[in-house]
Amino acid sequence: MRLLAVDHPLVAHKLAVLRDKHTNSATFRQLTDELVTLLAYEATRDARVAEIELETPVATAKGVKLSAPKPMVVPILRAGLGMLDGMTRLLPTAEVGFLGMIRNEETLQATTYANRLPDDLTGRQCYLLDPMLATGGTLASSIGYLVSRGADHITAVCLLAAPEGLELVERETSQLGVPVTVVTAAVDERLNEKGYIVPGLGDAGDRLYGVA
Ligand code: URA
Repeated sequence: MRLLAVDHPLVAHKLAVLRDKHTNSATFRQLTDELVTLLAYEATRDARVAEIELETPVATAKGVKLSAPKPMVVPILRAGLGMLDGMTRLLPTAEVGFLGMIRNEETLQATTYANRLPDDLTGRQCYLLDPMLATGGTLASSIGYLVSRGADHITAVCLLAAPEGLELVERETSQLGVPVTVVTAAVDERLNEKGYIVPGLGDAGDRLYGVA
């Protein structure tokens, strides 16, 4: 697994506002959207392109365009939905699939409750959106699921990651034989006994949508 913690003043500024418990849901949603667009720029460095020839008003030129098959963006419900527009803004040709994962708050195990994805993801570059990489269980299961359907390149975009979660994702995905990258705005200190990231930003779904 490759970890990319994006070091940029705009990312750090927006993240600080997201962390602030006084930030309301409308501002939280807006800043999440902006932050994800900045992370998406880094996350798509490996996006596959094909060379093309085109005509400028002056001459023939070479260029590139995103190549087939279309990239797949997969928000993990519920909180990953708040990251979708920020990601597809930079990848407008992507297809979007949905994965509903819920964490049992006692066992902290993730299970799938919804899935709208093509059966065949052979050769697809997939971008998983999950704001909080906490225990890593949800992300590791989601990555395994996409790879079992043929995805051959996975990039997870997270607002925050905990060291414990990164370790688990590394352990559970290292045998998959597929490159896995985690792009995040920061790696925080640790998880608390309830599985929350410390210092973190609280429950991302609640902060985005204002309800538990
Ligand atoms: N999920 C969240 O929304 N926040 C955390 O801190 C951990 C998991």
